[in-house]
Amino acid sequence: TPAFKIAVIPGDGIGKEVIPEGLRVLDAAAQRFGIQLEYRHIEWASCDYYAQTGKMMPDDWKDQLSGMDAIFFGAVGWPDTVPDHISLWGSLIKFRREFDQYINLRPVRLFEGVPCPLAGRKPGEIDFIVVRENTEGEYSSVGGISYEGTEREVVVQQSVHSRIGTDRVMKFAFELARQRERKEVTVATKSNGISISMPWWDGRAAEMAKQYPDVAWDKQHIDILCARFVLQPQRFDVVVGSNLFGDILSDLGPACTGTIGLAPSASMNPERKFPSLFEPVHGSAPDIYGKNIANPIAMIWSAALMLDFLGNSEGAGRAAHDAIVKAIETVLAQGPRTPDLGGAASTTDLGKAIAALVASDTKQN
Ligand code: NAD
Ligand code: IPM
Ligand code: MN
Repeated sequence: TPAFKIAVIPGDGIGKEVIPEGLRVLDAAAQRFGIQLEYRHIEWASCDYYAQTGKMMPDDWKDQLSGMDAIFFGAVGWPDTVPDHISLWGSLIKFRREFDQYINLRPVRLFEGVPCPLAGRKPGEIDFIVVRENTEGEYSSVGGISYEGTEREVVVQQSVHSRIGTDRVMKFAFELARQRERKEVTVATKSNGISISMPWWDGRAAEMAKQYPDVAWDKQHIDILCARFVLQPQRFDVVVGSNLFGDILSDLGPACTGTIGLAPSASMNPERKFPSLFEPVHGSAPDIYGKNIANPIAMIWSAALMLDFLGNSEGAGRAAHDAIVKAIETVLAQGPRTPDLGGAASTTDLGKAIAALVASDTKQN
């Protein structure tokens, strides 16, 4: 079987601590399921590289990455030295947009053994997936500042929602729901206040829903939707949102399941015209960097999503995904745990424990 080419980009902060644990588990899974992985380690797309060169990436970054099957990405951002909009628009957001990774999948799940901050919730009651539009919407470069430095200073930044961009994310969400047991879609909106784009967005959802009579759907304004994530998380199955709404919901959801240190993310170009990118939802966490205490599970679960994607959700890729998720379940139930979950274990301890479970035939299945 041909090797999958993986660009490995640690980035900044705890990205550099969780990537090695992700690789440790990837190696264990690849070995056990006979998957060939060929890594290309990349030090650019980091604020260290920026400090040396004055830019986030070399000019030929796109050529260097285009031939890859996937990008395994830690986190970018070191706001003490580089403003976040420079570091992120110079790396991660470029990847998402230029590689047309228009689907951002972010599963949210309450695991056995993880203390839930919401009273009385049990595993099984929180198990949904956020489908985030990942290339347009509120993240636009259309706008500017006028009369800068004067009293009349005005800043405008447009949201951009294209019909193609909106329909394809709606379609993905409805297709995904159709494959799931509950077959329900919740559309995040704000059509009461954002009076041009959001009523239009609702209309595109309604139009798409007509093609999926077997999928139940509703739309909810983002404000009450946030409240319901906390109060009634069991209501949700597939939640689809614009770029910004999806961003917010995908930190809120995992927070409701105990920690954002668990939450994985797949930024996908489903047509496979370009490499897809697999990364934790969380960032570089400067406040805990250097202590080897970051929870590596978000990175490790992202590795599972990557193998599943590379294997077209069948065969060895699916088996490797399932084995990694099973090992995560076991470690969350039995320990060790990192401090974000009340434990005292290190990033490395977790990586080793999960890799060992993935490698062993006896403890699985
Ligand atoms: P953050 O996600 O980095 O951290 C938020 C809080 O969660 C911090 O208290 C942190 O310690 C904690 N946390 C995050 N990941 C954790 C983990 N794996 N284990 C335990 N605790 C964890 O968000 P922030 O503080 O808003 O951003 C810090 C930097 O990261 C900024 O530069 C930001 O722009 C960047 N960022 C990058 C990405 C990305 O590359 N995908 C995502 C979010 C933020
Ligand atoms: C995420 C992050 C990024 C986003 C930032 C770092 C630009 O928060 O992946 O959720 O907003 O998409
Ligand atoms: Mn985010």
